Amino acid sequence: MDKQKVYVTRRLPDKALHMIAAECDLEVNPHDRALTRAELEAAVQGIDGLLCLLTDRIDGPLLDLNPNLKVVANYAVGFDNIDVAACTERGIPVSNTPGVLTDTTADLAWTLLMAVARRVVEGDKFTRAGKFKGWGPMMLLGGDVYRKTIGIIGMGNIGKAVARRASGFDMQVIYYAAHPLSKEEEQRLGIHYKKFDDLIRDADFISLHVPLNPATKHLIGERELKMMKETAYLINTARGPVIDEKALVKALQNKVIAGAGLDVFENEPVLASGLDQLDNVVIVPHIASASVETRTKMAVMAAENLLARFRGEKMPNLVNPEALR
Ligand code: DGY
Repeated sequence: MDKQKVYVTRRLPDKALHMIAAECDLEVNPHDRALTRAELEAAVQGIDGLLCLLTDRIDGPLLDLNPNLKVVANYAVGFDNIDVAACTERGIPVSNTPGVLTDTTADLAWTLLMAVARRVVEGDKFTRAGKFKGWGPMMLLGGDVYRKTIGIIGMGNIGKAVARRASGFDMQVIYYAAHPLSKEEEQRLGIHYKKFDDLIRDADFISLHVPLNPATKHLIGERELKMMKETAYLINTARGPVIDEKALVKALQNKVIAGAGLDVFENEPVLASGLDQLDNVVIVPHIASASVETRTKMAVMAAENLLARFRGEKMPNLVNPEALR
């Protein structure tokens, strides 16, 4: 029997590629960059399985180029790059990589929080530029983190991991989620539910952990930024479009809030005009899950899902079970 043909849209950790190559006919994007739309359209034709990234737009017109596609395995926990309804309509199961990147992502949210509040990047640039002429009482004063209030929006795995880390800083943790946790779980995590607007007003740090969907697009815009404390910081490791980035640039320019830490951007890899000119924002290029260990686990997980489909086994991280009914 012919082997199943699999296309992987970007070079991934070897372990996963070896797993796939052991059972399938494997082709990997040879370029060290995301595929263009035309390349993706060519790649999807004639294959049985696609292992793709959050930078690949998987939609109805793309799927129509290959009526025999059997599986789409996404190399990310977020799957807003995939039109899941379009996959379901065509009987194509989709998987993601939940769980394995929870702690690595929470660590980066905290890295950004600490870095922006304590002006670490500014301090680094200042020192390297030879501007450090000796200790100064008013040099690079930031905001304290310990015993402040952190407001977490979205209380899934990553939101909870961010909350757990806050106890080390003696912080008060408030949260907002479309589906609040049970009282027992709130108690266990030491967190308190707040209405959305109350959280926005009360938090010293706001960290975003919601998936991107029509309800969360521009969840934080001019209105919310104006409601935040002048001394507050906004952290985003979720998805860029959750924040209205133009409104954020304006708020940071006018010191409406104290600062922001961003891993994700509204139109990646393009930044909103003016963002990179600001000192009160720390920006990193969507690296929240980028540790060797985690990226390897994500790749293995995506490969396991893909292979499970070909073996006729249950896909461990299927996001659209209705596709197979
Ligand atoms: C995800 O998995 O959704 C992250 O954004 C990338 O690791």
